[in-house]
Amino acid sequence: MDKPDFDPKVINNLKLLAEKYAADGQDLNVHLEGLLHTSYTKYWDYIHLDTLLSLQKPKTEHADEMIFIVYHQITELYFKMVLHELKQLKESEKVDADFFIKKVNRVNWYFGQLIESFDIISVGLEQDQFLKFRSALHPASGFQSVQYRLVEIASTDFINLVSPASKDKFEDEYATIEEMYEEIYWKKGAIDTHTGKKTLTLRLFEEKYTNLLIRMANEYKFKNLYSVYKRLPSDVQKDAQLIASMKKFDTLVNINWPLAHYKYAVRYLHKGPQDVASTGGTNWQKYLPPRFQKQIFFPSLYALEEIENWGKSWVETEVLNKRPAMS
Ligand code: HEM
Repeated sequence: MDKPDFDPKVINNLKLLAEKYAADGQDLNVHLEGLLHTSYTKYWDYIHLDTLLSLQKPKTEHADEMIFIVYHQITELYFKMVLHELKQLKESEKVDADFFIKKVNRVNWYFGQLIESFDIISVGLEQDQFLKFRSALHPASGFQSVQYRLVEIASTDFINLVSPASKDKFEDEYATIEEMYEEIYWKKGAIDTHTGKKTLTLRLFEEKYTNLLIRMANEYKFKNLYSVYKRLPSDVQKDAQLIASMKKFDTLVNINWPLAHYKYAVRYLHKGPQDVASTGGTNWQKYLPPRFQKQIFFPSLYALEEIENWGKSWVETEVLNKRPAMS
């Protein structure tokens, strides 16, 4: 009988596989036989393309609503990638400078892409159509994006998400997440200006996500990006490149993305002397701009003056069209 002419690499792989399966009490032969019946992986199955493309369901006949839905979904997928990186920092037993900086640079890249791509809204969405189909979406709002809230929770100590007016209440370091959660900044934004009560958008969001948000906030309490940074060796904490990457993350998430978004809220909801009410019912002109929110993830990295001027240069160049003075 002819000897089968196997490449030594094949023999070696078979040996390795036999070891792998034996370690789990499995029979290599059974698994090899299984391979005979397995079909090839196909692109469309692997990425679940049919399911993915079945998830865009406009509520109206206006063609541009499709673009509105798809771009929200794209953003949510990017948020998912950001959370995936931050979760790895949370779960790593030991984080060194290299791993830390790689993760921060990745999330910076993802947020950078989101900011760059926000202009898709102006290319793909006629204001006329938006103002019509949006009435079919009440009271849904991007305000209800739970992943956006989770990115915040995974990035900083919870106290930094508390509304500035309430922070003093929690000076004592034993304040619980549950106590602070009541005073989180975005709850303050979603109060009906006429009645002083929580908007329906907020109430529905709380009903669905309060438990999850509190659980995640407890999980990230000592494992969020900021606290992982504060546990790095002190010489690493002072590394200029690392600090620059963290400040970039803070700026991208807390100034540049919110302002790219705000620019379109203004453009699409500003109509004549009176602005159009948002679907989420916030006092959005006051609530959205970061100059008012002053959300800062890593406060210890800034001089007082930088905090005072948070978001100012972007507003001057992008909104008011003032170029910075040449030195
Ligand atoms: C024409 C385009 C858009 C307009 C006019 C708009 C308008 C608004 C307004 C007015 C708010 C404040 C809450 C409210 O009162 O509803 C808001 C919040 C929000 N929107 Fe949009 N939005 C647009 C596109 C997007 C897109 C594409 C995303 C991507 C997911 C998004 C995500 C969010 C998030 C995360 C918030 C909460 C922000 C915060 O709490 O600081 N929006 N939006």
